[in-house]
Amino acid sequence: MQKTLVLLKPDAVQRRLVGEIIGRFERKGLRLVALKMVQASRELAERHYAVHRGKPFYESLLAFLTSGPTVAMVWEGREAVSVARLLMGLTDGARSAPGTIRGDFGLSVQNNLIHGSDSPENAEAEIALWFHPEELVHYTSSDAAWIG
Ligand SMILES: Nc1ncnc2c1ncn2[C@@H]1O[C@H](COP(=O)(O)OP(=O)(O)OP(=O)(O)O)[C@@H](O)[C@H]1O
Ligand SMILES: [Mg+2]
Repeated sequence: MQKTLVLLKPDAVQRRLVGEIIGRFERKGLRLVALKMVQASRELAERHYAVHRGKPFYESLLAFLTSGPTVAMVWEGREAVSVARLLMGLTDGARSAPGTIRGDFGLSVQNNLIHGSDSPENAEAEIALWFHPEELVHYTSSDAAWIG
């Protein structure tokens, strides 16, 4: 089953939107297989956003991601990577459609509440960066036959 890494960034925690956002993933039918709160170090933030090194917003992005606790999660399900990205909306809250997380709760490009892996390959690498393998819990959903 496909897995994806989802981060509720420090703004989501500070704005008390954690429950609201997790509820959307649950209602969609994705399955929560790991969850923890993390105060990201500079090193973890650098590794997570290594692809953006050198961009004008890079330093500000690292400061943002390390500014407070992040909720790190792994969700799984059919097409989990793209489903999570659809729930999130576009990078820029101002351009995200209402009904999406970024479209409903923000206007900022940087402080956009949530991260989701953008490919199954990156999801695997990002899950390994944020979680130890034993932190992922394997179980059966009683409603799997209805939702999958
Ligand atoms: N032009 C920008 N100015 C400020 N911050 C930006 C800008 N572009 C991207 N960011 C920040 O960097 C993050 C990573 O950018 P990316 O292009 O990977 O967007 P994304 O894939 O929608 O977001 P994420 O990787 O966090 O899921 C964005 O989510 C946002 O927080
Ligand atoms: Mg990205």
